Amino acid sequence: MENQELEILFQQKIDREEKIEPKDWMPEAYRKHLIRQISQHAHSEVIGMQPEGNWITRAPSLRSKVVLLAKIQDEAGHGLYLYSAAETLGVTRDEMLNALHEERAKYSSIFNYPTLTWADIGAVGWLVDGAAIVNQVSLQRTSYGPYSRGMVRICKEESFHQRQGYEIMAHMAQGTPEQKAMAQDALNRFWWPSLMMFGPHDSDSAHSAKAMRWKIKRETNDELRQKFVDKTVQQVEVIGLTIPDPELKWNEEKGHYDFGEINWDEFYNVISGNGPCNKQRLSHHKKAHDNGAWVREAAEAYARKKQKSVAA
Ligand SMILES: [Fe+2]
Ligand SMILES: [Fe+2]
Repeated sequence: MENQELEILFQQKIDREEKIEPKDWMPEAYRKHLIRQISQHAHSEVIGMQPEGNWITRAPSLRSKVVLLAKIQDEAGHGLYLYSAAETLGVTRDEMLNALHEERAKYSSIFNYPTLTWADIGAVGWLVDGAAIVNQVSLQRTSYGPYSRGMVRICKEESFHQRQGYEIMAHMAQGTPEQKAMAQDALNRFWWPSLMMFGPHDSDSAHSAKAMRWKIKRETNDELRQKFVDKTVQQVEVIGLTIPDPELKWNEEKGHYDFGEINWDEFYNVISGNGPCNKQRLSHHKKAHDNGAWVREAAEAYARKKQKSVAA
């Protein structure tokens, strides 16, 4: 069959809500789009461990330390599911990591902000994982089978992450005036970068239209951002904090909250490598990767040895 015919059948399959599987025919642009999106997602899970790892040794109690450790381990697992999902599209783990290290691949800009206080760990779990959930719940219905199934599992773990963060914030907001101020300060610093996680406005988003037609994305950046704002406002009120946005207001007619404009200069500045921690995040990742070389070599040697004994 000609490519054009194949492409029509491919689109019909998507329109029937059937999943595309690794061995199915797919347009090259669909494959490329997915590799970019899934590897970017995987990198975000893994780089996202750094700002939180910063606080493992300084967690204020044994309980909070155990919870934080479990949460960060989950994120490593999410990275692994996603790298595996991307590998089904014909790209190798090495290629993806090289792209990250050579700054050809991106990860979520939120992880280029520092975690300065314990309250920041609360804000990250609550807002950053909270924003990620909104996106990932939607991606459970993405058209590519392995990505969709990975998301189902990831979402189950994300709701625990969101609650661990909210619990920290709730405790601090009900603590001493200093603790409450610390919680408010963390909310002030993480609110806008969390809204940036959904990406540019739909009108400025280069890849959006195609991704929607192929049902890689099921909802647009602006729709997802609105959902996040709507569900978070009440959570903020319950613990007595304030969202740092004077324009935030319930819009009766729309049935949604109106909110202020994001500082897009900051967004593009951080995305292009000039955020407060970009250099630190990348060099730490490279170092950890290099330090782990002996583990990969040992695993390969063991696999060869096992293969030989099976053959014998
Ligand atoms: Fe995650
Ligand atoms: Fe998470």
